[in-house]
Amino acid sequence: MRIDILTVVPELLESPLNHSIIQRAKDKGVVEIHIHNIRDFSEDKYKRVDDYAFSGGAGMVMRLEPIVKAIESLTNEREYDEIIFTTPDGEQFNQKSANTLSLKKNIIILCGHYKGIDQRIRDHFITKEISIGDFVLTGGELAAAIITDSVVRLLPGAMSDETSALTDSFQDDLLSPPIYTRPAIFRGWKVPDILLSGNHKKIEKWQEDQAYKRTKKLRPDLLDE
Ligand code: ADE
Repeated sequence: MRIDILTVVPELLESPLNHSIIQRAKDKGVVEIHIHNIRDFSEDKYKRVDDYAFSGGAGMVMRLEPIVKAIESLTNEREYDEIIFTTPDGEQFNQKSANTLSLKKNIIILCGHYKGIDQRIRDHFITKEISIGDFVLTGGELAAAIITDSVVRLLPGAMSDETSALTDSFQDDLLSPPIYTRPAIFRGWKVPDILLSGNHKKIEKWQEDQAYKRTKKLRPDLLDE
């Protein structure tokens, strides 16, 4: 998979996407992640990427031309399955969206900034608008990092134990069961006996029950779905 991220603050994306599982997935060739600075596509003398809104009022708007040039520099080279815009008024991102995106070959993520982008970009280039929740960030970069992280870890070969992505919370509309490691007793707090029994069938059944109970208690809405 190839992910191209367009941003006016590339520094915000570098750290989250250069470590741990995501870095290893890049090293293994499971994913290519390219971060592009929209400013590099500005023909303005001062490399400006924002301007005043025609409507007046507070807040600057991301200009159309550098974004169009940045997008077309990519789409002229290869086909993209989605051109995503991160914005609080987009559709709510969840595990299903991550699963769907992980099946795509090439995607572009355009990070919103300032008051927003010129609407014509949304009308003519963007194929999907994504919000990571009902709150407003200073820009779409952290949202893009979250989307990328959740998608890349699903790619075959990204994680050493591939079944582990399949047993995540939400993967079958249930939260994960509780999990423990050594020592079996700490300050008198014991790991449930069943997990020490070595009986894999019983352990699996226990995990299913626990996942259901936890979901019912913490996220009953998932069961309604
Ligand atoms: N940009 C600002 N806030 C955002 C959010 N909640 N989701 C996606 N992009 C954003």
